[in-house]
Amino acid sequence: MLCTPRYELILMPGALDAALGLPQGSVVTVTCSPSRGVAATIDLAEQLRACGYRVETHLAARRFESHAHLQDTVACLDTAGIGDVFVIGGDGDSSAGPFAGADLIAALAEIAPHLHSVGIPCYPEGHAAIGAQLLNEALDAKCFFAGHMVSQICFDADTIECWLVRTRDRGVALPVYIGLPGVIARRKLLGIALRIRLGDSTRVLSKNTGFWRHLALEAQPGPKIMEIIWDAALPIETSCGGCCACATCHCYIDDAWMTCLEPADADEVDMLDMAFDVGENHSRLTCQIAFSEPLDGLRVTFAPA
Ligand code: FES
Repeated sequence: MLCTPRYELILMPGALDAALGLPQGSVVTVTCSPSRGVAATIDLAEQLRACGYRVETHLAARRFESHAHLQDTVACLDTAGIGDVFVIGGDGDSSAGPFAGADLIAALAEIAPHLHSVGIPCYPEGHAAIGAQLLNEALDAKCFFAGHMVSQICFDADTIECWLVRTRDRGVALPVYIGLPGVIARRKLLGIALRIRLGDSTRVLSKNTGFWRHLALEAQPGPKIMEIIWDAALPIETSCGGCCACATCHCYIDDAWMTCLEPADADEVDMLDMAFDVGENHSRLTCQIAFSEPLDGLRVTFAPA
């Protein structure tokens, strides 16, 4: 099963250096970052291709502004010799342009029939925000131009097997790559799982703020801005309870106060990369800012959920 693994890279600082440790000739897939957009994905994909990797590029439907934007992107991939793409809807409820998911596959079938392979996602454990029937309909609508499926991470082998049997019974015969997490700190893995809205297993965790809060307070003693907000009963989501693992406590700091804060550390920068609507130079995570007297009067604005 693991003789032909593919490696999925999350678009984070240091991703290229990390990828260079993979065996030459590996298949490396590059995800799309909600905050950095399509161009950053293509940029990293091109660099990896130039280093000799076979690259599958994620195309997040909601991040394309127009058909022309999609055409330009396909032209860049052609120039770089990248013929493998993976089409996802993309995070967030709003679209930057005309696409949402299956419609991008249809557009690709028209403008890029020469692509070597097109992958699509599948969800053995379901999706936290999309019902089973809609998921099936979306899968069926994409199959005509897809060559394989890649499963969302799932932490239960029986669940994957049952889903696969049901899917085959429905007549979907595409080969499946099973998504498995790589080596990663448990806290970070759970944060990513929450952020990308994995199914039932993480939905339970997202509601169990007591579990997260206990973990957070053990790891990071001291009053954080997040805790002050909790005490004031203001409406902020803090799914991981302050573990720097969800980015739901994202806020904007007034410019005048930015110089009073300790700079964000690498974990916070990584996690902010997964947040929506990140503001240049003034986005921070409230769970990572320790309150001290010089910060008395600090003004923060909650980022959109
Ligand atoms: S509460 Fe999760 S990152 Fe701050």
